[in-house]
Amino acid sequence: MTLKIVISGFGTVGQGVAEVLERKQDFIKRRFHRQVRIVAAFDSRSLAHDDGGLDPELLLERKSSSGMVGDPRPSDMCRFLRETEFDVLVEVSPTNIETGGDGLLFIREALNKGAHVITVNKGPLALHFRELNDLAKKKKVQLRFEGAVGGAMPIINLCKENFMGERILTIQGILNGTCNFILSRMDKGLPFGQALKEAQELGYAESDPSYDIDGIDSASKVAILANAVFDRDVTFSDVSVTGITAITEDAIALAGDQNMVIRLIGEVSPDKLEVAPRLIPKGHPLSLSGTLNMAQINTDLAGPITISGRGAGRIETASAIFSDLVAILEAERQ
Ligand code: HSE
Repeated sequence: MTLKIVISGFGTVGQGVAEVLERKQDFIKRRFHRQVRIVAAFDSRSLAHDDGGLDPELLLERKSSSGMVGDPRPSDMCRFLRETEFDVLVEVSPTNIETGGDGLLFIREALNKGAHVITVNKGPLALHFRELNDLAKKKKVQLRFEGAVGGAMPIINLCKENFMGERILTIQGILNGTCNFILSRMDKGLPFGQALKEAQELGYAESDPSYDIDGIDSASKVAILANAVFDRDVTFSDVSVTGITAITEDAIALAGDQNMVIRLIGEVSPDKLEVAPRLIPKGHPLSLSGTLNMAQINTDLAGPITISGRGAGRIETASAIFSDLVAILEAERQ
């Protein structure tokens, strides 16, 4: 039986998903005796659609040569989703943290028609988690979002599935690679502005870097963790947020004199939701330099568990999406 997929958003991550699906076809066939086919892929301007399945390589070629994944798309993509037969929506369109954007509408539409949803879109999850999760339960489908926090770092499913029998006390982590890169460069003496410029040139920062440096991206991830792991009902505006723009070179130097570094830490516990720069002793796992994400999960039985991984990237984020897809295939097999 074929599993039909629609990819909403054919930017970096959407293209990574198409590539990973192509690379993993044999594995899926071997393990699940099923085929996974992309029946539609769209971005803000264009749409490719074939009920029989699209060739991922051709989709990628067309996108890179023309900037479009297919022909000009209809304006009402909710209607398209309503009228198209598919099993899983992979929603990876650009995020909108003020309203949830089109991604929110597409996720609602897919869940309502009884399709599973895999998303890394932080806006809808940080603003309307409870509603979307309840809708998925009502429709008896899965809403999965491993890649929304920490990219390839497997934090959501680790906490929800592997740690099912544990009580999670706190999660503290470096949840934004751009800020960590900037702070690490400042450790080496670079001024803030120059470090930010480097992060942008290297493609780490969001298109609007204030999402990163004002702590908004980290706060969204804190809200998602609170809802998903601690079963809370919060939005990203419930998170107390301080970004990194006020951190001076003097503060970094002073921290260095005391064998400390400054890192932007997100913290979630049953009664705390915070993103703030903190002094971290050098050598502590959270003193990590560079663009990696890192989280320390404190549980009642296992104690502290530390995980780390690439928080962004085409194939890295697609790996998290693929792990969610495998979980859906596994659940359907049982
Ligand atoms: N801009 C984000 C970061 C990307 O730097 O971590 C992943 O959400």
